[in-house]
Amino acid sequence: MELKISRVTKQFSAKIAVDKVSLQMQPGVYGLLGANGAGKTTLLRMICGVLSPDSGEISLDRFSVKEEEYRNCLGYLPQEFGYYPNFTAWDFMMYMAALKGIPRNKAKVRIEKLLEAVNLKGSEKKKIAVFSGGMKQRLGIAQALLNNPKLLVLDEPTAGLDPKERVKFRNMISRLGQDRIVILSTHIVSDIEYIADEILLMKEGTILQKGSLPDILEPIQGKVWECKVNPAWETQILEQYAVVNMREGAEGAFLRVVGEQRPSADAVSVEAALEDLYLYYFKGEGGE
Ligand SMILES: Nc1ncnc2c1ncn2[C@@H]1O[C@H](COP(=O)(O)OP(=O)(O)OP(=O)(O)O)[C@@H](O)[C@H]1O
Ligand SMILES: [Mg+2]
Repeated sequence: MELKISRVTKQFSAKIAVDKVSLQMQPGVYGLLGANGAGKTTLLRMICGVLSPDSGEISLDRFSVKEEEYRNCLGYLPQEFGYYPNFTAWDFMMYMAALKGIPRNKAKVRIEKLLEAVNLKGSEKKKIAVFSGGMKQRLGIAQALLNNPKLLVLDEPTAGLDPKERVKFRNMISRLGQDRIVILSTHIVSDIEYIADEILLMKEGTILQKGSLPDILEPIQGKVWECKVNPAWETQILEQYAVVNMREGAEGAFLRVVGEQRPSADAVSVEAALEDLYLYYFKGEGGE
């Protein structure tokens, strides 16, 4: 199974939201990481066929994104998902199943399992209106899985999940990625750092870097430093280095920076993490 994206472009008036992006994906978990406005949602909407590219092509094996066979393989959780507040979780799932053409009896069995998997067992008779943000998000994930999709696209699926739910979610995604293509977007590094087989770093409509975590960290390995702040060279360091973290310790402030040269004699070289790379590329931009 292969998802093939060839030179896909989308422009909104003067803004090129996605700029000639080409990607090939096989079963596994793909983490699309980028700041606000990077073009993540636009790219995912094109992959899901809800937005047509201005140019370029998208196909899953031999089916183009416009074909019904492609749609049948797809599960999608949009970033802004329209829930029906007066529906119960159960009725909502039955409704979504009907839209996907799943027979009622089959749907019931499947919904039972899915609600269990997303930890909503016991809340199925509650109206969505009384759900918390995290519960709604989990219901959104469950509906995306109704047709057991080979291609699962989740746009910021962890928004609104608390730390405990995030861990559960990550485990679930890892499992799902074993035999299907899972693409999830986020601007939260820790959501994908350990579960993505491949990380796609997106900035201004293009994929800046892609690869496994060790691969994409390679360029900054040996260039991440931790050092004590010395007021004498503070301005200089801010000019020459990407400062990825600053924390106050008992002996004063510590900086974590990325740069070619050892910033000071007492600076310690530390192992690079995805957050360093992200902040290095997205200095001063949105994100967490
Ligand atoms: N329907 C639209 N009409 C006009 N401009 C749009 C439209 N959709 C997206 N854009 C613009 O395209 C760019 C990319 O937006 P997109 O929503 O794809 O980014 P994103 O990476 O998903 O951001 P976020 O992290 O905030 O969700 C932005 O500059 C946005 O303003
Ligand atoms: Mg988005």
